[in-house]
Amino acid sequence: MRILGIETSCDETAAAVVEDGHFPLSNVVASQIAVHAQYGGVFPEVASRQHIRTIYAVVNEALEQAHLSLEEIDAIAVTRGPGLPGSLVVGLNMAKGLALASHKPLIGINHLEGHIYSAWLASQEPGDHHPPQFPLLALLVSGGHTELILMTDHLVYQRLGATLDDAAGEAFDKVGRLLGLAYPGGPAIQEAARNGDETAFHFPRARLEGTWDFSFSGLKTAVLRTVQDLQKSGRGMPLADLAASFQAAVVDTLVSKTLHAARTFRVREILVAGGVSANLALRRAFQEQREFPVHFPPPSLCTDNAAMIAAAGYFHYLAGHQDGLDIDVLPTWPL
Ligand code: KG4
Ligand code: ZN
Repeated sequence: MRILGIETSCDETAAAVVEDGHFPLSNVVASQIAVHAQYGGVFPEVASRQHIRTIYAVVNEALEQAHLSLEEIDAIAVTRGPGLPGSLVVGLNMAKGLALASHKPLIGINHLEGHIYSAWLASQEPGDHHPPQFPLLALLVSGGHTELILMTDHLVYQRLGATLDDAAGEAFDKVGRLLGLAYPGGPAIQEAARNGDETAFHFPRARLEGTWDFSFSGLKTAVLRTVQDLQKSGRGMPLADLAASFQAAVVDTLVSKTLHAARTFRVREILVAGGVSANLALRRAFQEQREFPVHFPPPSLCTDNAAMIAAAGYFHYLAGHQDGLDIDVLPTWPL
């Protein structure tokens, strides 16, 4: 079963072909980061116009790299939301055109579901593929979302909690900006933190006891205050220590609440996905605990891509789901 996935919810124009929900035959991502970096974040109108210029070539490239024609594809899966409306429209219309021309089924996918299913995708190394087992707890950490989701089976989601303010990736991006680092802040902070002392500053960890929610705005403000105090004191800016201490606070908060929820709901395994799941300190912290097996997507498939959309599309296809050619985008679609 070969699914063509298309993803244009934010600032990556992406298409991929995935076999049987696990094996990427191609994975093409045209990043707009360079275009948006000058604004310090994603500029929505620029994003949709960039998608419209790139989408046709990206889809062709994904088919070519998979050595397949459109006729050899079984279904077309496309991100329907959540995301930027003008960006989603470009991918959805492309998918509709392909479905119409090829008489193949169209399947609209929730972007968050796509991130979760990225953990089903195999990495390049042969033989290293162990799909996640249910019941599982998914920690979804991206630029727009931070959620804890309980899954008892494929396509069954119970949202336990979410961020009350900034998403984890958003916190990385905002703190990156206030430390004068390049956009996006996540990879830049990880790099800056490499030789830093994570105990140099003690930043707050919002526990929010009695809920499965998160909050990162207090942490962001604490970093801002510290930076302002350091500027006033004229003692120079210990960038590596600030980055490492901030990163440690985010990692601590995410790992401790996820493990607590995993014990409470007696899951078999944990899955971590979304752009922030690329973070090496987060991956290390989860790998160091011995209580639960933890699944991560292959590093290159943590940030937005279309292989994850095709993987989710496969499980919807198996469940007999299909959408009409009249579906609209859903910019605020909850999982
Ligand atoms: O999943 P994603 O590509 O897009 C959304 O759906 O939001 O996530 C992007 C987010 C950005 O906030 C970026 O800073 C963060 O993921 N990110 C990271 C790392 N790589 C990307 N955060 C921390 N460490 C990283 N290595
Ligand atoms: Zn995403």
